[in-house]
Amino acid sequence: MSDNTPYIIIGKEEGVRALASAFYDAMDELEEAESVREMHKENLDLIKQKLFEYLNGWLGGPHLYKDKYGSICLTDPHQPYPIGEEQRDQWITCWDRALEIVDAPDEFREMTREPIQRMASLMVNT
Ligand code: HEM
Repeated sequence: MSDNTPYIIIGKEEGVRALASAFYDAMDELEEAESVREMHKENLDLIKQKLFEYLNGWLGGPHLYKDKYGSICLTDPHQPYPIGEEQRDQWITCWDRALEIVDAPDEFREMTREPIQRMASLMVNT
């Protein structure tokens, strides 16, 4: 294991942006992610940008989301949406597909696998 953060390993801002973008492209394309796609707006540009900003800090880089929107509990903006285990699993399916699309290094996948599962489980509210 290197001392690098996931942020460095994925390729800093450029890599995180590509991952966030690939994530919502996967959500748009995967039939098995239909119910989670339906919760989102038709146009995914803003949410791609927000996820990029959030992940940038979460993965160990500059806290772009916090700097812009302040310190929030991420479960709050998810409250209006009924998120069950099925939606959580769909979200993770999109994440896994995004890792394939950007050809994320194995080290990045290993470092983020459990934390992202835990994070997604925190959003379950129904
Ligand atoms: C567990 C399944 C999840 C579902 C079904 C879900 C769904 C959603 C939905 C419907 C929105 C609002 C979209 C909009 O405003 O158009 C949203 C916002 C957001 N989600 Fe998730 N999400 C999940 C997990 C996660 C996880 C694990 C993360 C981070 C690692 C995340 C990060 C975000 C961010 C940053 C926003 C934008 C919040 C804002 O409006 O400022 N979500 N999510």
